[in-house]
This record gives sequence, structure tokens and C-alpha cells, in this order.
Amino acid sequence: MKEKDFFLHKNQYAISNNKEGEVFKRSSSNIALIKYWGKKTNTLQIPLNSSISFSLEKVFTGTKLRYHVKTPPYKKNFSVKFFFFGKKKFIFWKKILVFFYRISSYCSYLRDYHFTIETYNNFPHSSGIASSASFMSSLALCIMEMEKQLVPSLTHSFFLKKASFLARLGSGSACRSVYPGLVVWGNHKSIIGSNNLYAIPYPYKIHSIFQNLIDTILIIDETPKKILSTQGHQLMNTHPYAKERFKCANKNMDCMISILEMGDFQEFGKLIEHEALTLHAMIMTSNPYFLWMKPNTVQIIHMVWDLRIQSKKNVYFTLDAGANIHLLYPMNERLFIGKWIKHDLMFYCKKIIESICF
Ligand code: DP6
Repeated sequence: MKEKDFFLHKNQYAISNNKEGEVFKRSSSNIALIKYWGKKTNTLQIPLNSSISFSLEKVFTGTKLRYHVKTPPYKKNFSVKFFFFGKKKFIFWKKILVFFYRISSYCSYLRDYHFTIETYNNFPHSSGIASSASFMSSLALCIMEMEKQLVPSLTHSFFLKKASFLARLGSGSACRSVYPGLVVWGNHKSIIGSNNLYAIPYPYKIHSIFQNLIDTILIIDETPKKILSTQGHQLMNTHPYAKERFKCANKNMDCMISILEMGDFQEFGKLIEHEALTLHAMIMTSNPYFLWMKPNTVQIIHMVWDLRIQSKKNVYFTLDAGANIHLLYPMNERLFIGKWIKHDLMFYCKKIIESICF
């Protein structure tokens, strides 16, 4: 689909069909295996390489959107009230207004309503897990649910594509959270249907070893990041190694496709660790440079490597844009790895959250 297919013009719907309503949507967070890092300049949220992630079943955001039509004469600015766990949050509210502004030409009805948005995460607030992906995805799904009342002929497949398209405009990685399982975003020559505008469910064969993988999130640092992802993406525009990184990410995606089919868990693990460390190497060598890892991040990485040598267990890590670690391992290692985390790693972590890649 092209960008023009997502516009909804005033003559395509009647506000009188949907004067007020309430919708609720839940969306999972996701962890990227091949990372999105860098956006095209002078575009809105167009990635410079393709990425693939697992959605995390037990880590989600729930959002309720209430709306009622404005009565004339009314102002054409956005009317939004926002509550996070029942409390107003100015910073999030501002982000929502930016989001509404970005999507308004695709959802021309937004200025005709008053909105109240209430949201919560099922994971602890400020736990260091990026919640913008699950939040923006849940909000985009709510908006599409509302759009469906205005345009009842809208198909399920279009509903999800446009939800992903809108979520991308809120936060790039959010477009992958619209779907469960393995999800791809960004054009890649070897992945049919992949594109920069919205994410798609991974379309190829996946070996059974990758079904129901466990992702245990080790929260090492709960303080807000000093360099946000959005700033980090920008730094890639002047990064001396950027071109090589994009080439490498595309090559890694090709490797990932064959690993996912063949079920080679060691190769899978090596690839995701390489991707994670490359992401961090990019931020360490940007200008200005920065270090997200904390001493305990490095400590745990070494403990994972040591455990693999000693026990030959299949446990690998990936990192998000911060100090926290995601440990990925197959379901059949759960007992052993779970005990090891409790006995050996807890000391270095503030919290742990176990989830399933579904
Ligand atoms: C390291 O999606 O948070 O998690 O598009 O500016 O909102 P914006 O950035 P964001 O970046 C995520 C970066 C990452 C890798 C990934 O999820 O692919």
C-alpha cells in the first residue's frame, strides 16, 4: 500500500454516524532482534534499515479512548485530556498533541471531537522499559477502532496496516507492536511485503525452537535515560560509521531469515548479541558520545558468557536503548535459567520481569 491509501477525507465519512463512544485497546511492548537505529532526514519516521522484533506477551499498555463530537461553533485545535494511571502527565500530553498533529491529515476527523485518553502499563512505571512503543501502538489501535465506526466497510487487514502506519508516526518501533510474534518494519529486498510505512508479520517459516521463547528483562537502571532514542537516531545522520551500520543491519537481516528457518539457536544468539553491541557501539561513537551501559550491565554480560561456557545452555542477551538487559532462551531451559537468574543475577538488578515472545 502507498501513503495516499491511508488518507481519509471528509467526504468519505459522516460524523453523525459516530457522535460519541469509548474504545479500549491493549498493546504489547516489543524487543528488537535487528535494531532500528537511524531515520531518513526530512521525512517523518522513515527508517534507514529494516528491523525485526518479538512482541512481548506479558508486558503491555492498556489505553481507553473516550470521544464526543464538538458542538458548533468550535475551535479547530485538538481537544485532548490525558491521564496516566489516573494522573495528568504534561510531557505525555504534549507527545500526544504532536502525534495527533502528525496523523491529522490521515484522520481528518480528529479535530471534530473532544478526547479523553486514559492509559496504564502492566509493568512498573519508570521501570526502564520503553513504554512508548506499546502506548503509541495501543493509541493508534484505539483511533482505528473509532475510525471503523465512521467507516464500517473498513477491512481487518486495512485496519491493522493503518494502525501500524499511524503508530509509526508516534514512535518508530511502535509500528511493530500492533502485531504479535515476529514483526518486520522497513524495506528489505529479501522480505516480501516489507516496507518503510508500516510493519508486517514476519512472512516466512519459523523453526519451532523460536516458538514461545522466554524473554527475561533485567532492570538494572530505572532512572530516565539522558539521551533518548529519538536523539540517538538523529546522531546517526552525522555518524562516521553510519553507512557501514546500515549495510551490516541489512546483511544481518538476511542471516536472520535463514537462522529462523533452520533453527540454529547458537547462531541466533550470536547475531542478536552482535546487534545489541553494535547499537551500543554506535551511541558510544556518536558526537556527542554516550554510554548507556552501567557497571552491572557489563557484569551480567560477562556472567552470561561464562554460564554458556560452563553449562552449554542456550541463553543470549540483547539490549535496548539503555542499561537494561533482555535474556532470551528457549522454553525448555526455563527451569535452569530461572534458578540461575534468581541465585546469581538478582543481586545486580533492581527488578526482573519475565515475558514470553509470542
Ligand atoms: C533501540 O522507536 O523509540 O529500541 O522513532 O524516535 O520514537 P522513535 O524511536 P524508537 O527507537 C527504538 C530504538 C531501539 C531499537 C528498536 O526498537 O528497533
